Amino acid sequence: MAKTRQLSLLDTVLGEIDHALRTVHGTLATTERPYPAQGLAEKADMTEAERDLAGRLMRINHAGEVSAQGLYRGQAFVAQDSALKQHLHQAAIEESDHLAWCSQRLQVLNARPSLLGPFWYWGSFSIGAITGKLGDRLSLGFVKETEDQVINHINEHLTRLPANDLPDLAVLQQMKADEDKHGNEAMQAGGAQLPWPMRKLLMPFLSKVMTKTTYRV
Ligand SMILES: [Fe+2]
Ligand SMILES: [Fe+2]
Repeated sequence: MAKTRQLSLLDTVLGEIDHALRTVHGTLATTERPYPAQGLAEKADMTEAERDLAGRLMRINHAGEVSAQGLYRGQAFVAQDSALKQHLHQAAIEESDHLAWCSQRLQVLNARPSLLGPFWYWGSFSIGAITGKLGDRLSLGFVKETEDQVINHINEHLTRLPANDLPDLAVLQQMKADEDKHGNEAMQAGGAQLPWPMRKLLMPFLSKVMTKTTYRV
């Protein structure tokens, strides 16, 4: 019995390592929803500076999606309730579309993903697991708060991207709508509002560290 339990724990850990590697290396399965930028023309006269800016902003969004995978998987790893675990795994699958879209944009813009991908993933996984241990309701509340932080930086990017960069704008608009839906679903599933210091200090701080670092690395 103990041996079976050890084997199933080993399976789970190996499954998580596999998910992390697929996330960072861009080979995660997606739901294959339509690519929002499909058929949209690239801005032909984009200057070098505009392309550089777009690449840096999309790198932040890509890193945000790597982090989202880590957070959801970390929360699911410790979730006691099987319905919650399922909800979080499903959320990670839906986020994989965002990761693939951002990755596609980085390739078109000739920009690279963050060099700190593994750090973002496992750092987020750890935060997700710690939050998950606070209980299912706070864990769902954390999803809502994370999604709100993502929406904040997407809103900022929507104003900073070149106005004619239609493909990036389309990808971000769709992501924003999805993140809003994810946050609302988490609250409908029983999420509780996080304590004020987490909401107003810790989460914005972590978000700022990630966006500022990824802009450069
Ligand atoms: Fe996302
Ligand atoms: Fe999301």
